[in-house]
Amino acid sequence: MLRDTYGRIATDLRVSLTDRCNLRCTYCMPEEGLSWLAKPELLTDEEIVRLVRIAVTELGVTEVRFTGGEPLLRPGLPGIVARCAALRPRPRLSLTTNGIGLERTATALREAGLDRVNVSLDTLDPEVFHRLTRRRRHADVLRGLAAARAAGLAPVKVNAVLMRGVNEAEAPGLLAWALEQGYELRFIEQMPLDAQHGWQREEMVTAEEILRALRTRFTLTAEEPERRGSAPAERWLVDGGPYRVGVIASVTRPFCRACDRTRLTADGQVRSCLFAREESDLRGALRGGAGDAEIARLWREAMWGKKAGSGLDDPRFVQPQRPMSAIGG
Ligand code: GTP
Ligand code: 5AD
Ligand code: SF4
Repeated sequence: MLRDTYGRIATDLRVSLTDRCNLRCTYCMPEEGLSWLAKPELLTDEEIVRLVRIAVTELGVTEVRFTGGEPLLRPGLPGIVARCAALRPRPRLSLTTNGIGLERTATALREAGLDRVNVSLDTLDPEVFHRLTRRRRHADVLRGLAAARAAGLAPVKVNAVLMRGVNEAEAPGLLAWALEQGYELRFIEQMPLDAQHGWQREEMVTAEEILRALRTRFTLTAEEPERRGSAPAERWLVDGGPYRVGVIASVTRPFCRACDRTRLTADGQVRSCLFAREESDLRGALRGGAGDAEIARLWREAMWGKKAGSGLDDPRFVQPQRPMSAIGG
């Protein structure tokens, strides 16, 4: 089991498959991109599957989510999914993607054993999409979403970050669209995890603002309990149901007390938290010939040191060295 000193148990593993991305979202990385990890630094497909196997069979992990960077850029993804789906006990398998390329791969991923996907889409306007992501790929994302739905990857969730002065007025429009399309929409408060270190609390569009904007067009009723277990999203029934909308308010309504997450970066470092300052080198252990029991011991040790929370409310808060794209969202 992956337990920490606050009694939390991590059963949800997020595995970053690459730090690269084919978009350049302004809240994530600069136009020129970042200095990407070199191929030999990345875990191989083999190494990823071995670490997931150890997590599932020895450490009590039941949910595995593949993230990035953009995980669809990893050519071996369907194979990794298939091998993880063959593990016993079988973990639930999901993917967080920007949706580009999903049109081509959704069916293969579903057949490989992927259960569901979360797709990032911040706007319904192709021009605003270009401004936010610096790429003209809006239509690809919409097609990727439709392909995921058609492939039976359910539920399909859509993640939207609202940026002041760019897409901040889109909350009700996005919700109307998501309801019509049958996607579960969640709004995410912007977090200080951008490579440029440009985040400013006063600039962030807050959960409260988002809910106020949604209530101008919809009736939202809180479910009991509002947040299910450790899920980051608080959810509301829209217009009496059955569909819901979520808000992930990491900054103004932190949920660290119920956190059940452990993370693996694309270069094989365990992080106990998105905002952790320490990493534990499982890749070095793997490549140095460590057995499963030793890897499991190192992983337990890394999680035992997990801090109480993100530290975002501490005036001395300092951003982690690595940006979100390198940690894995
Ligand atoms: P579901 O299992 O579908 O609810 O997925 P999820 O919302 O946990 O994952 P997803 O990858 O879609 O992430 C949505 C947003 O939540 C992203 O901005 C993540 O960075 C953020 N997020 C995910 N896990 C954590 C976490 O442990 N802490 C914080 N603060 N944010 C997180
Ligand atoms: N703050 C909040 N969410 C972010 N994402 C990327 N960077 C940030 C940030 N700084 C979102 C992406 C994607 C999800 C994995 O995280 O838009 O939906
Ligand atoms: Fe978990 Fe850290 Fe996120 Fe809090 S900030 S929910 S402790 S990963």
